[in-house]
Amino acid sequence: MSSMGRRALAASALLLGTAAVRAALPPLGTVPDSLADPVQARADYVEQCGGCHGVGGSTAPARLPELRGRVGWFLCTPQARAYLIRLPNVAHSRVTDNQQLADLMNFVVFALGGDSAPRNARPFTADEIERERRHALTSTSLKAERARHVEDAIRQCHAPTSLRLLYPGQSG
Ligand code: HEC
Repeated sequence: MSSMGRRALAASALLLGTAAVRAALPPLGTVPDSLADPVQARADYVEQCGGCHGVGGSTAPARLPELRGRVGWFLCTPQARAYLIRLPNVAHSRVTDNQQLADLMNFVVFALGGDSAPRNARPFTADEIERERRHALTSTSLKAERARHVEDAIRQCHAPTSLRLLYPGQSG
């Protein structure tokens, strides 16, 4: 093959690759206007969280909580909101700027969470992040904390009872 042919082939492979990644990225349509930089927020999620939670917020049947279509239920009560920020991977995130982390978490609850975010839910603010991330949970308290907030969301916001599981349809 000529070197020009090889270059053309490499260029089209690159284009195809980029298109495939874009197709997998969750759309930004449902994020609130308060986000300083939604595209940055999505990129931060993919980089800091996507390795474990998946680019689209789902890794089932891996033993990880599914974020897609359900993480928004945790906006149901002030305590459950705080739980999201106090998660060790969130509170101790490498994203040290509080507005940037607020944007990341708003992308998580509104874009990945989709319809699960209650209609009147307020977006996270930098002040809220700054306050709550100082009270990071320990891994020993996580399970009980989650269970409590899940029951509140089921009772108070009509979250589906499958929120008790890590992902809908989980068995064992
Ligand atoms: C090393 C893997 C890993 C990384 C990185 C990670 N998480 Fe998690 N995440 C987990 C695990 C495991 C759990 C379940 C609770 C626990 O054991 O920490 C969890 C729980 C959660 C939950 C609670 C969901 C529920 O239904 O209770 C949310 C929200 C969350 N993570 C968001 C994030 C965000 C946002 C980031 C990036 C800033 C992130 N995680 C980074 C592994 C990870």
